Amino acid sequence: MKLKIDAMKYLRLLALFVIPLLLLSCNKDKNNPGYDYMGYQDMYYTKFYKAYSPNSVFSDSITNQLPADGAIARGTMPFPLPAGNIGERAASQMQSGAVILNPTTPDEESLAKGKELYGVFCSSCHGAQGKGDGHLYTSKLFPAKPTSLVEAYVQNKKDGEIYFVITKGSISGLMGPHGSQITPDERWMIINYIRTLAQ
Ligand code: HEC
Repeated sequence: MKLKIDAMKYLRLLALFVIPLLLLSCNKDKNNPGYDYMGYQDMYYTKFYKAYSPNSVFSDSITNQLPADGAIARGTMPFPLPAGNIGERAASQMQSGAVILNPTTPDEESLAKGKELYGVFCSSCHGAQGKGDGHLYTSKLFPAKPTSLVEAYVQNKKDGEIYFVITKGSISGLMGPHGSQITPDERWMIINYIRTLAQ
């Protein structure tokens, strides 16, 4: 008998506290998610800005920022080299010079790597000092005269243009493309190294 009364008390307590609490936690208002743990610290609900609303994060207060200089849309190959037509190839090379910017800052380590890569991929034709007197040319194994890399003609080219030459080869096709052998990072290291050869 005593046991039964205790059980009733327990049920009444349950009805008094637990059931209203459960009901309170059901929220029909879809615009208000109710209370949440740590929500007040912006951990779940980040601030957002509309494209044209002012923005306190950027120094120019504009939300809709332009892509960084030299950015290329994902999956885009900006300069497919047109086959055959020398005029179009030349235009692509010039365009690379204007648009593809060197993303690296040469330091001692990357210049040393650039020198090593130059020795592997370029010096056989262009020579150890870049003067266009590499072994393949002087021994007459390779007939075309490699361009001197130390003189103004090449040194005045923009980095992006040399990047294009390494990737796709020279406009005339006498120097072949090296894009499949040399990674983009390595190409920039070689270019930074070539700059140190300037006369
Ligand atoms: C097999 C020989 C050979 C190799 C290897 C070679 N080049 Fe060349 N390179 C040439 C020749 C030949 C020319 C001149 C081609 C022409 O005038 O069309 C040339 C031209 C160039 C030019 C001038 C392009 C222009 O617009 O006039 C640059 C820059 C250049 N090479 C850089 C390099 C770099 C950097 C490497 C190494 C990654 C390299 N070359 C590897 C033979 C070579």
